[in-house]
Amino acid sequence: MTTPAPVTRRVLVLNGPNLGRLGIREPEVYGTATLADLAETCRAAGRELDLQVEVRQTDDEAEMIRWVHEAADARTPVVLNPAAFTHYSYALHDALAMRTAPLIEVHLSNPAARETFRHTSVVAGVADGTVAGFGLLSYQLALQAIAQLLLARESTR
Ligand code: DQA
Repeated sequence: MTTPAPVTRRVLVLNGPNLGRLGIREPEVYGTATLADLAETCRAAGRELDLQVEVRQTDDEAEMIRWVHEAADARTPVVLNPAAFTHYSYALHDALAMRTAPLIEVHLSNPAARETFRHTSVVAGVADGTVAGFGLLSYQLALQAIAQLLLARESTR
């Protein structure tokens, strides 16, 4: 019997629709940091945690699903801000259900404190956990959680 490939220390940080507009998009809700700032914050956190972080963003559901498949095939952990897909994309839910490595859902804002349609997450039930409401810190905390989950897996090998 072949042993499965180990979970990688590479982490994909995937961002959904409209997050490419950070900085100019509703700054009173999402802050003034741009996607480039977000990516740098994540890479810096990755260096601290010995994780190789790659940050991507798409407005396209099909592309997001392809990335989730890619992560599942390579056993790559994922930090995911599904943006509006959070609230209705069963296709994304189903893709994430095939995951083979840790998955943390993140949000910059706190959807539970916003409009009713944001109170539902179709992603939360297939994630290890959710971090929401802390701006860029949500991503840093999610990467810390990934590092801890990888450590826990290593110690049970
Ligand atoms: C968001 C919250 C979602 O409700 C919204 O659709 C987004 C961003 C956040 O990071 O706070 O696009 O995921």
